[in-house]
Amino acid sequence: MRPGTLRRWLCRLAISTLSTLLFNPITARAADADNNWWKTAVIYEIYPRSFGDANGDGIGDINGITAHLDYLKDLGVDAIWITPFFPSPLVDFGYDISDYRAIDPQFGTMADFDRLMAEATKRNIRVIADMVLNHTSDQHPWFIESKSSRTNPKADWFLWRDGKANGQPPNNWISIFGHSAWQYVDTRNQFYYHAFYKEQPDLNWGNSDVRNAMYDVLRFWMQKGVAGFRLDAVTHLFEDPALRDEPTTSGTNKFGDPNHDTIYTDNLPQVHDVLRDLRKVTDEYPGRVLIGETYLNNANDLALMYGKNNDELQLPMDLQYGFVNSFDTAKTRQLLVDAETKINGNTPLFAFDNHDNPRSTERYDQKGHADAVARLIATMLLTPKDSALLYYGQEIGMTDHLPRRKEDVQDPIGKIGWPREKGRDAERTPMQWNADNQAGFSSTKKTWLPVGSDYKTVNVASENKDPNSLLNFYKKLIQLRKSNAQLREGEFVIVDPNNPSVLSFMRRTPDGKSVLVSCNLTANAQSLAIEELANKSGEVLISSSPLQIASGQFSLPPFGSVVAQLQ
Ligand code: GLC
Repeated sequence: MRPGTLRRWLCRLAISTLSTLLFNPITARAADADNNWWKTAVIYEIYPRSFGDANGDGIGDINGITAHLDYLKDLGVDAIWITPFFPSPLVDFGYDISDYRAIDPQFGTMADFDRLMAEATKRNIRVIADMVLNHTSDQHPWFIESKSSRTNPKADWFLWRDGKANGQPPNNWISIFGHSAWQYVDTRNQFYYHAFYKEQPDLNWGNSDVRNAMYDVLRFWMQKGVAGFRLDAVTHLFEDPALRDEPTTSGTNKFGDPNHDTIYTDNLPQVHDVLRDLRKVTDEYPGRVLIGETYLNNANDLALMYGKNNDELQLPMDLQYGFVNSFDTAKTRQLLVDAETKINGNTPLFAFDNHDNPRSTERYDQKGHADAVARLIATMLLTPKDSALLYYGQEIGMTDHLPRRKEDVQDPIGKIGWPREKGRDAERTPMQWNADNQAGFSSTKKTWLPVGSDYKTVNVASENKDPNSLLNFYKKLIQLRKSNAQLREGEFVIVDPNNPSVLSFMRRTPDGKSVLVSCNLTANAQSLAIEELANKSGEVLISSSPLQIASGQFSLPPFGSVVAQLQ
């Protein structure tokens, strides 16, 4: 063979293999399905300080997550979203980042992270990073440089403004975490803006250097294999350049500040330019997803987050359906129908729990019905046509544990706002693995937050053993969601739309097969005769208690739910 011939031959072979792979319709469809994994995903949120403590210092870490991957696999999750693990002074427990390309030593090392990625990939679990784009820590080198003078190369990387003539802040904007959103710095004789704590200065997203620096951060983590990002506080990226005062509404917030209509600091139209850029960046790597922390008022606003041409976020969170905070059937149904029908065929991402709000076990508490309510919420979350977010511990029915005294509070919101605002410690207590000391979370006695007092009964080990436990209910639902064609891909159809007590819908595939889901949102038993089901019987796939469906008739116990294949 002449020199070069072998190279040319290998090259042709590579091209033909590649084109077969790329243009083979079966492979192409599989790749497409794989890249769209997020459309039907169950994504499990991990607060790393509280999930598993491998090194025994009382604080969870990356190795503690790796150690529990088999549990997550068994539960059936497709991806884990880990809240920030980057170096941070931890004023906001990681949401104040001082280095976007490293791991905080409290959580481990980059080698630990790489091992987590490898072990997760082996189990077909994707890893989603939490990206805080709106602000950095005040200890980030960018901010340290920016505040040093008005003329340094990063002088314009944050939002600096002169105060009023009397030394007062530039305007009336209020921080989400209490009091003025402006902080004075004498090296510049100026104020900087912070939507959250003063230790979290807002970046200036109008500056293209800031944008490009952040886009490179995303590329860095995608090259490490992360499957996408949960974009923190993403609706806050821009503020009114004219700095107009925000209109004051009635009452005060939990910190005693006047309430504002946040029209100049939240959800400005410029956010969409950045979302489109971000999407282009993540689209450079196949199969990545952008999730948004999007607290919005209605489905129309949510629809905008996907982009007019579906070129923005794939999964902006719907934080409406799961946050009604009471069993108001009409309102819940309306929010569900809106999310399923008014977002241009996109996928809603539902959540009932996260690290910023009291757990649903508290928000939907119905004295004496805790177990039924937890199963009802599982059904409401996992059976519509959606992607679903679970928060660690939700699957075993973990509850909130409020700090009793101000001295015990860890979350600065609780320190600033005590006693009206007790902070978010209650929903961040250590994961309850078993009935051993510290609930199997840590080998040390002093965990960063105390373990919930109910850990002897509410824990993974004992619920694993009990076939009727909430944990096994979650597992069955998640399995069913994957194995049942109607739940996997069936269209969403509301049924019995005027029932004041029971939320019912069907999932129907083009072959005419359907699955019925009915959820009793009241504390009374409800008998149903669903018109659409007349003469049909149903094979119960999952229900919170035994029941039978004959001729479209059945009854549900208080807060009961059923998922049935119709025949
Ligand atoms: C988001 C996070 C929250 C954090 C805040 C500031 O709302 O979920 O935990 O405190 O942003 O980064």
